[in-house]
Amino acid sequence: MRIPHTSTRDLLTVTDLSGEEVLLLFKFASKLKTALKRGRRHDLLSGRSLAMIFEKQSTRTRVSFEVGMNQLGGHALFLGKDDIQLGRGETVGDTAKVLSRYADAIMIRTFSHESVVDLAKNACVPVINGLTDSYHPCQALADFFTIYELRGDVRKVKLAYVGDGNNMANSLLLCAALLGADISVATPKNYMPDTEAVRKAHELSSSSGSKIDITTDPYMAAENADFLYTDVWVSMGQEEGAMERRNALQDYKITQKLVERSAPACRVMHCLPAHRGEEIDADVMDSEVSIVFEQAENRLHIQKALLCTLILNNERQ
Ligand code: CP
Ligand code: NVA
Repeated sequence: MRIPHTSTRDLLTVTDLSGEEVLLLFKFASKLKTALKRGRRHDLLSGRSLAMIFEKQSTRTRVSFEVGMNQLGGHALFLGKDDIQLGRGETVGDTAKVLSRYADAIMIRTFSHESVVDLAKNACVPVINGLTDSYHPCQALADFFTIYELRGDVRKVKLAYVGDGNNMANSLLLCAALLGADISVATPKNYMPDTEAVRKAHELSSSSGSKIDITTDPYMAAENADFLYTDVWVSMGQEEGAMERRNALQDYKITQKLVERSAPACRVMHCLPAHRGEEIDADVMDSEVSIVFEQAENRLHIQKALLCTLILNNERQ
């Protein structure tokens, strides 16, 4: 299989890739997915190891990276924060230098985005952001890969995000702007997406042609949307202000009424885990318009494409 070339060593945000590189990854992920469904495995990462640092919980990220490495003939190590010296004060920089001597790539899920930047600065192997308070690039890539599979040309699509202006909202904005999809984000006034992510999305949209709209009105956002997306109101690390968030966000949820306001063949998306009855009604999430489990599955395929690309390109340097 032909490995796409990317100019970046790391994936800290989706904008480390160009729109063309993302499309090459989608094509590569499609091939890996088809091969897997036909029972064919490719030992493209035989003998390689992925170190996975987790400072927050995870189901999908942990399992999809670990299974993905196994399917490619490699190996992944789960490093929980209480299991490694990072949890006892060893610096991120020293951790990066040490892990680079053993592993062929590092994936990290942590709080501050600056920690991931610091890790990448000190590592000499590819670093993949497996979620920070600010961004979740692997999820956004899986989501747009899911849209690409359904619609082909993502530039003809409008996605509406309704909910908290969190790490998912930031990454979806950037990914849509990179790929030329239209995106409308509806949040309450004090829960808007990150101003830098919005600025960057506008900048990217001037060449990709995507229309970006930030509003406080979920019904305006949903108008003609081909995909309706939401995420939890209380992200990991925000448990303290949970009650206030639930009050502020109660109208920013996916309901049947909101689905009816969107385009006729609209599909409903969620990165999961979901809180049924909060940001998404259970009957919508469990209905035929929901593609949430396709999104979850596609984490595996897109990350396998990403791992091969970043690790093998780095080895060629
Ligand atoms: N969507 C996602 O990243 O899920 P996990 O928190 O289970 O990894
Ligand atoms: N916004 C959520 C995403 C979980 C995958 C969080 O950060 O907890």
